[in-house]
Amino acid sequence: MNIRCETLSDYTAIAEVNTLAFGQENEAKLVEKIRYSDRYIAELSLVAEVENFVVGHILFSYIDLVDEETLQVLGLAPLAVSPQFQRQGIGSALMKAGLEIAEAKKEAIVIVLGHPHFYTRFGFQPSVVYEIESPFPVPEEFFMAKPLQNYQKQYKGKVVYPAAFDEV
Ligand SMILES: CC(C)(COP(=O)(O)OP(=O)(O)OC[C@H]1O[C@@H](n2cnc3c(N)ncnc32)[C@H](O)[C@@H]1OP(=O)(O)O)[C@@H](O)C(=O)NCCC(=O)NCCS
Repeated sequence: MNIRCETLSDYTAIAEVNTLAFGQENEAKLVEKIRYSDRYIAELSLVAEVENFVVGHILFSYIDLVDEETLQVLGLAPLAVSPQFQRQGIGSALMKAGLEIAEAKKEAIVIVLGHPHFYTRFGFQPSVVYEIESPFPVPEEFFMAKPLQNYQKQYKGKVVYPAAFDEV
């Protein structure tokens, strides 16, 4: 398995992986909307390939954390692995690669909405631990944050997702 940044020629395969993994097109559309927005981070859209075939994708993009000031932080969404390649460590490998790049970019914190069973193993904790509030009602354990080395206490407040997320 190889992990690398997405290129233009991966766009169709990335859409397919997301559609298959989620069983709907919303996440594939989300990826496209983020890609054409000012929140897109090219180096944090990664694909996992097996025999030159894209089987997994992860995207981190900028979302807002609003308190006395508004700070841009990383939002992780979506993460997808094609069904027949799931439970083989590909999702975890994408996650680790993405977090390493985020650290290298000196980002402060990553926010994710997802299954605690999967994300806590990478150091995510309920966001309330960091005084970070979800923009919508969701059980606390599903809305998570992982501070990076550059994290400071001012990273708190309410998460506001950009317009690209409106229809997800
Ligand atoms: C979640 C997902 C990205 C994990 O990728 P993966 O390559 O299967 O993950 P890994 O093989 O690295 O890790 C497997 C672990 O993830 C857990 N996992 C896999 N799919 C899961 C799911 N749909 N819900 C909860 N946990 C899941 C497994 O239980 C396993 O944990 P275990 O080691 O304790 O058994 C992948 O299953 C997927 O694309 N699912 C559908 C889309 C989705 O739900 N994306 C995440 C949004 S929060």
